[in-house]
Amino acid sequence: MASHLRVLLIALCIFALDQLLVDAMISKSMYVTWGKQHAVVNREDLQLVLDQTSGSAVQSKRSFLFGSIEMLIKLVPGNSAGTVTAYYVSSTGDKHDEIDFEFLGNVSGQPYIVHTNIYTQGKGSKEQQFYLWFDPTADFHNYTIHWNPTEIVWYVDGLPIRVFRNYEKEGIAYPNKQGMRVYSSLWNADNWATRGGLVKIDWNSSPFVANLRRFRARACKFDGPASVTKCASGSPGNWWNNPVYSQLSSAKLGQLNWVRSNYMIYDYCKDTKRFNGQIPPECFKRQF
Ligand SMILES: *[C@@H]1O[C@H](CO)[C@@H](O)[C@H](O)[C@H]1NC(C)=O
Ligand SMILES: *[C@@H]1O[C@H](CO)[C@@H](O)[C@H](O)[C@H]1NC(C)=O
Repeated sequence: MASHLRVLLIALCIFALDQLLVDAMISKSMYVTWGKQHAVVNREDLQLVLDQTSGSAVQSKRSFLFGSIEMLIKLVPGNSAGTVTAYYVSSTGDKHDEIDFEFLGNVSGQPYIVHTNIYTQGKGSKEQQFYLWFDPTADFHNYTIHWNPTEIVWYVDGLPIRVFRNYEKEGIAYPNKQGMRVYSSLWNADNWATRGGLVKIDWNSSPFVANLRRFRARACKFDGPASVTKCASGSPGNWWNNPVYSQLSSAKLGQLNWVRSNYMIYDYCKDTKRFNGQIPPECFKRQF
């Protein structure tokens, strides 16, 4: 009897592990939405390809509300000018929410730009841009969106580069009611991406290839309106709502400030010529 039970337990454990892995594998959790011949999915790995005939894109089957969305990415090497590799979460509809990482390619040896943005209730225009402190084409690096009811943090290899805090009580929209899917794509944006569109794609350098790996959504699965309170609740399974994630530690703040002072190249909050001179209200609040 006891040994039967043990066999059963072991079988259950193997089944559970298997399910976890299945859920995590890109081949099981995402599907190709554009450029079927240009996206190669193999278990934990995804290759996005762009050539003159097409780019490519994938999206997650599930949508999420709060948690940690993680991906390892190795960007298009060599002359990648005019290409954009996008990695973001988004809901749908004209009042959609969206949290973005976009990587703007460059000619060989020149730096990529990491472009970040957030849309709330269909409104974006909250860009911040950064250079990186490493060559993002030489190896895989970890790009993570950490999102809970209090704040959103963009991480690169564990270093916070940007924070967007919830000031909904003061009338500033915050993404906390719509489930978001995870998307990634590689496309031609040479009308704006590199030096504002001055440098065009060199198709002689194509096909362009971005490699993505080990997608993890340690996040609350969105199953309709009931998830809005469920995913925001303080229940023990909702680790992202733990108070330690409502404010960066002083060590993390130090890293954020290091990135901001050495690698930040654009901040919408400092763009006094834009917005008819009306800087958006969240820019006057504590930002991180
Ligand atoms: C990626 O970074 C996030 C945020 O720092 C971290 O929680 C996660 O464990 C990292 N994943 C890998 C595979 O290193
Ligand atoms: C590309 O390199 C140029 C020259 O170093 C730089 O000004 C620009 O910000 C870089 N990145 C993009 C995406 O244009």
